Amino acid sequence: MPAAHERLAVLLSQSRRAVIFTGAGISTESGIPDFRSPGGVWSRMKPIYFDEFIAKEEQRREAWRRVFANSSGWVGAKPNEGHHAVARLVAAGKAVSVITQNVDNLHQESGVPPEQVIELHGNASYATCLACGLRHELEALKQSFLGRDMIPLCRECGGLVKTATVSFGQAMPSEAMRRAEAETLACDLFLVLGSSLVVFPAAGFPRRAKENGAKLAIVNREPTPLDGHADLALHEEIGPLLSAVVPAFPA
Ligand code: APR
Repeated sequence: MPAAHERLAVLLSQSRRAVIFTGAGISTESGIPDFRSPGGVWSRMKPIYFDEFIAKEEQRREAWRRVFANSSGWVGAKPNEGHHAVARLVAAGKAVSVITQNVDNLHQESGVPPEQVIELHGNASYATCLACGLRHELEALKQSFLGRDMIPLCRECGGLVKTATVSFGQAMPSEAMRRAEAETLACDLFLVLGSSLVVFPAAGFPRRAKENGAKLAIVNREPTPLDGHADLALHEEIGPLLSAVVPAFPA
């Protein structure tokens, strides 16, 4: 095993309570484009800010068009070897929680118990009413949107319905932020997988962990602003690396 991989294996074996923090980079090997790599989502479309979604029907229509055109590539994607290695670390009790910026549900689909996944930016697999919080399934909304050009409204209260993701300018989920802070301060190893670490407040957690005395390891194809603070920064593909470092635990 290369020395750098050995160092990650040692950090994992020495850890009693790790936190795994993931970004879009862990899902690109599932065919889901990330946001800031060349050809990433933001090079192809402009983000729709929360206040625009609220204020302008045209922006709501564009947001739902993107969802039902699967322009972000989430629908039908399957977990890859990186997700499965993370699930093995959780199953082995090495990592107690996965703090993710991703909304693709792939950590849950790879077998991480939902209660151990902390979704900072929500989840794209369903929608909620912004007024009363009622959950709405996308398939039903898709039929009325594509069939009768009806922009989704709450079936109970008539309020605006939006996918359960956190848009730029939208408040962060307070319970997820509270849990992420607690896990960040309780861990002795904070492992970042596939994030450019440029979007806050999420990107604040790795630094917080390091300042609190945890070891910080980063696996990311490109350098990140936190590499200089990390105990280990590996610029490699997550799937192959974790498959080598986190062998398949006995099933
Ligand atoms: N292996 C390792 N690193 C990878 C891989 C891979 N297979 N694929 C991509 N990467 C790296 C890229 O080099 C990039 O630095 O993953 C990083 C992904 O960074 P971003 O695209 O910025 O995604 P992320 O950090 O998750 O963005 C945070 O920004 O737009 C918002 O809400 C969105 O949650 C997202 C947030």
